[in-house]
Amino acid sequence: MDYLKRILNARVYDVAKETPLQLARKLSERIGNRVWLKREETQPIYSFKLRGAYNKMARLSAEELARGVICASAGNHAQGVALSAATLGCEATIVMPVTTPKLKRDAVAALGGKVVLHGDSYSDAYAKARELGDAHGYVFVHPFDDPDVIAGQGTIGMEILRQRQGEIHAVFVAVGGGGLISGVAAYIKAVRPEIKIIGVQMADSDAMLRSVRAGQRVELADVGLFSDGTAVKLVGEETFRLTRELVDDFVVVDTDAVCAAIKDAFEDTRRVLEPAGAMGIAGLKSYAAQHGLQDKTLVAVTCGANLNFDRLRFIAERAETGEEREALFAVSIPEERGSFKRLCQAVGDRNVTEFSYRISEERDAHVLVGVTTASRADAESIRKSLEAERFSAIDLVDDDLAKEHLRYMVGGRSELAANERLYRFQFPERPGALMRFLTSMHPNWNITLFHYRNQGADYGRILVGIQVPDGDAHAFQAFIDGLGYPYVDETNNRAYRLFLG
Ligand SMILES: Cc1ncc(COP(=O)(O)O)c(C=O)c1O
Repeated sequence: MDYLKRILNARVYDVAKETPLQLARKLSERIGNRVWLKREETQPIYSFKLRGAYNKMARLSAEELARGVICASAGNHAQGVALSAATLGCEATIVMPVTTPKLKRDAVAALGGKVVLHGDSYSDAYAKARELGDAHGYVFVHPFDDPDVIAGQGTIGMEILRQRQGEIHAVFVAVGGGGLISGVAAYIKAVRPEIKIIGVQMADSDAMLRSVRAGQRVELADVGLFSDGTAVKLVGEETFRLTRELVDDFVVVDTDAVCAAIKDAFEDTRRVLEPAGAMGIAGLKSYAAQHGLQDKTLVAVTCGANLNFDRLRFIAERAETGEEREALFAVSIPEERGSFKRLCQAVGDRNVTEFSYRISEERDAHVLVGVTTASRADAESIRKSLEAERFSAIDLVDDDLAKEHLRYMVGGRSELAANERLYRFQFPERPGALMRFLTSMHPNWNITLFHYRNQGADYGRILVGIQVPDGDAHAFQAFIDGLGYPYVDETNNRAYRLFLG
């Protein structure tokens, strides 16, 4: 199949625009390479997805268009299909999981798409779309595994080479089902084979990398949902074939690194990307660091900006940890006049992000201190200045309990909480999950502490203190194991013991 020809002949510009290839000045300076961003989030639907969808649909016959099209999607592909249908004057049915945020459903409906809600996951929606397509004769528009969709996405590669004619060391592309990277790689490898194409995958959603390593498509049982645009359990057959043949290497990134990349993009463009949209940047940074790249020209495709506003808090917080820009300490100081002032002096003129304290003992005061830092070494120097004052300081930057809960609830020690056990749970953030947790609790067990905070993440995190009569120990263990949520027994956590237990 001649993808170069298909891409050169692709029809995308009735709906898509040629997006800018922009130098990210601050990021370039910071990492010592020239970083260029291919700004696909500036497309009319805030992602590249309209290129592939339109190229597929513009090639349908008048008879096929009259029958109408159908697709399954929880987000960006749905908007691409709806916009293309509106432009071509055909009907589009879009099957979305019932958990799809209203914002995305409304965006599709506003473009004239007919929304059908079905099932909990993309796979359920996909099965339903196939069934409805067969029953009504609609043409199915696949989100990635279709040569016309791949060729449409490939026009991004064509634009990059036209816009930047000099040396390019590598191009970094987020991978979900593989349509985007297949198209970009097909064009660039045909025209400038020396340019490296690097696929970027989330650590908890890496179906393409596993498939390439195994030499065959591997289906994942579960995928992390933080980067919803790339949360794919099984990659396409054609996208697997092309990726395996054309992609030079992969780099794997985690949630914190993606949050930091969203911040990098914001600082250079004043745009907020969605997680999948920032993966290219996160991968570029990680790859450049791993390979010690300097003074090279690197391109990241910023491929989407359809972000729910309520995720911003989580992203902003994690961006700091992702870059190690904040240190968190539990500092114990003598409960006496002047020691608080000495603590402030030891912290110096650094930016304090958190300072929490409540009197609890006669002899010592325990203070939770958050400080903005430039690097991990900075945190170590703060710890040393605290210890020079003979304050004991525990570095909590790797302590999830301290970062996710304790910092928001210092001051809760109580005489009444004798023999309290403390557990930290994680559950998928979906409607009803918190209630299910609460209602399955045994009424005889006394809850002595409860903390939940919606952070806009894919997982809800709660902290529970509970008093269980001695005779109920076995029943209690069976209960927490039976809930089916991952949990950690934090009863002996040192920060908990200092502030709450
Ligand atoms: C913003 C964004 N980035 C990346 C991808 C991954 O594209 P592909 O599934 O073609 O690999 C998607 C897919 O929907 C997306 O919406």
